[in-house]
Amino acid sequence: MNRIIIGITGASGSVYAKRLIEELSGAGHDVHVICSKTGDEVFSYETGISPEDFIRTLGGSPKAPVIHQNDNLFAPPASGSFKADAMVIVPASMATLGGIAAGSLQSLLGRSADVCLKERRKLIIVPRETPFSRIHLRNMLELTETGAVILPAMPGFYNHPKTVDDIVNFTVARILDQLGIENTLTKRWEGR
Ligand SMILES: Cc1cc2nc3c(=O)[nH]c(=O)nc-3n(C[C@H](O)[C@H](O)[C@H](O)COP(=O)(O)O)c2cc1C
Repeated sequence: MNRIIIGITGASGSVYAKRLIEELSGAGHDVHVICSKTGDEVFSYETGISPEDFIRTLGGSPKAPVIHQNDNLFAPPASGSFKADAMVIVPASMATLGGIAAGSLQSLLGRSADVCLKERRKLIIVPRETPFSRIHLRNMLELTETGAVILPAMPGFYNHPKTVDDIVNFTVARILDQLGIENTLTKRWEGR
């Protein structure tokens, strides 16, 4: 089983985080969740449930996720000695993305991402913004050159999605692929 840190920020698209956590936790992975303040608020606004209450509903999963407070720099993910396999920031705001690119974030979420980069661990960033400014694009270039994977929430339509769930699953499946976790959320392309 993998130990995955999930960072949730105040970009739109909390449903991606919700779906990903359900998948990982349901499959028995060790999931550690960190929400920024706005991430917490946008998650509640968009999904109708707070991240804390949502995590509580997963109590019956093979492995219940752990939630860490973003201002608690004493939490395990703040240290490189806490051996996480990967971190996913989903959805990632331009503010957090820029802070990580500058190495300047003071929060647990920012520190955990910085730890992933310095330890050469997988950091998957799922930005949600449109259009992008030059600053956004430059920050993404900086991060990809430092080793992060920039995986925009950018659904494909070749699978003929019928529901919002289908569209959400497309991006979550790509994240799971990056994590090396087998999944059947979408049908894989096998040609026409
Ligand atoms: C409803 C709502 C939707 C937002 N959507 C986005 C978004 O898609 N992308 C983005 O970069 N910022 C978005 N923002 C702005 C961020 O929340 C804001 O920049 C905030 O400072 C991000 O802080 P954080 O990165 O610490 O979560 C949104 C804000 C709100 C209230």
